[in-house]
Amino acid sequence: MNTENEVKLQEQYIKKIKEINNNKNLKYTILTMGCQLNENESEKLCGMMEKMGYSKTENQNEADVALFNTCCVRENAEDKLFGELGELKRLKEQNGIIIAIGGCMMQEKHITDKIKTSYPFVDILFGTHTLHKFPEDLYKSLQEKRKIEDILDIDGKIYEGLPIKRNSKIKAAVTIMNGCNNFCSYCIVPYVRGRERSRNPRDIINEVRELAKQGYKEITLLGQNVNSYLRVEKEKGIEFEEYEGVNSFATLLRAINKIDGIERIRFVSPHPKDFTDDVIKAIAECKKVCKLVHLPLQSGNSKVLKEMNRKYTKEQYLALVDKMKNTIPNLTLSTDIIVGFPGETDEEFEDTLDVVKQVKFEQVYMFIYSRRVGTPGDKMDNQIPEEIKHKRFNKLKKLVESQIEENNQKYVGTLQKVLVEGQSKNNPNMLSGRTDSNKVVIFEGSLDLIEKIVDMEIVSEHMWYLKGKIKE
Ligand code: 5AD
Ligand code: SF4
Repeated sequence: MNTENEVKLQEQYIKKIKEINNNKNLKYTILTMGCQLNENESEKLCGMMEKMGYSKTENQNEADVALFNTCCVRENAEDKLFGELGELKRLKEQNGIIIAIGGCMMQEKHITDKIKTSYPFVDILFGTHTLHKFPEDLYKSLQEKRKIEDILDIDGKIYEGLPIKRNSKIKAAVTIMNGCNNFCSYCIVPYVRGRERSRNPRDIINEVRELAKQGYKEITLLGQNVNSYLRVEKEKGIEFEEYEGVNSFATLLRAINKIDGIERIRFVSPHPKDFTDDVIKAIAECKKVCKLVHLPLQSGNSKVLKEMNRKYTKEQYLALVDKMKNTIPNLTLSTDIIVGFPGETDEEFEDTLDVVKQVKFEQVYMFIYSRRVGTPGDKMDNQIPEEIKHKRFNKLKKLVESQIEENNQKYVGTLQKVLVEGQSKNNPNMLSGRTDSNKVVIFEGSLDLIEKIVDMEIVSEHMWYLKGKIKE
């Protein structure tokens, strides 16, 4: 069956479940772990749930279905899932809540085995390649009262036209490619998400146009390797239809930049090795593309980078940053760093600190290396003791925090364009928004500013946010 027909078949299951649920006011909870791609897939799961007649609740006690969308990049997500399942056992016994677990972790056999033996009350297990089939899985679970396991180990396909219920009315995530062919030696993603595959330009452009019509202002393009959009297709001679001049990541940025109504374009996560000159030029020339670029470093040491299979050296990374800073006015950078990769010495770790000092990132997402079953890193026999990993992590954290403080000072007195998102969570008398560089700004203003871009003077800095004053 082609993907279009598969999606149509699921529409039939959605209808059937809606009929069964006939105005019973059923509810669901959803817990999403991991990256923005997973968040986006949860929006699709929520879209399906709502169409089947369920409404979302935060209160597990009143839920009829408990959904989990899992991540397996680091170990802490596993602890969280098993903790939640322990709690759910009571609810299962009390009111027969349906428990469904999907996402990346379900592509790992040792995890599904553990669930089946230690948490046998779980009803549905589904993987990353079968998310679109959730209505069918739920239907079979409800009708046939049996456990469903729907997990495939395949390269993966792209399913268009799934229902979606977005979390925000102004910011939307649009997945443009899926899977990963890079095989960084610490990373589980290529094993759980399959091979790289890109969506058709036409489907993406039409989705963004539709979002603009609905009033969305900011688009974040998503992919595990977002800047290699359409690369594999070209290398392998897989046919795709060029649309509005889109035949690469750079041309996609340019095409979306032209869509009226969209004011900001972001993208995550690119790989430094695929950061080609045409992309740098497109960022510089497209007014709507935010000048905050996420450029995962992982390590600042060339030997560690080689062991990580990152395909660039410290010098190449720094040269790329220089080139980008010279080409893109007002560029700021954020990054991901892993500390304690197998074999990393204190001296090699110092190289990471050195790069952080040189680049002065706007934001650094710091991770302690976590062994992932099935990756080359897990088989390396020179694992770093936990206490050394933590020591290095704290050293990096201290450096990053001092840089953030210094960097925040630079904002004070500047004028910034702030996209107003809503009332501040901590203080409902204030509004909250974000700068082009994704800094949170809190300020006083009337509610009709929500969803608008406002000119603002930054009056003070407070580590995790800035205070602003609307420019008269
Ligand atoms: N351990 C720690 N961090 C990891 N990441 C990916 N795999 C691991 C791992 N095994 C981090 C990387 C990546 C981010 C999404 O998660 O920094 O960029
Ligand atoms: Fe986690 Fe990677 Fe899956 Fe995202 S794609 S949820 S980071 S394992």
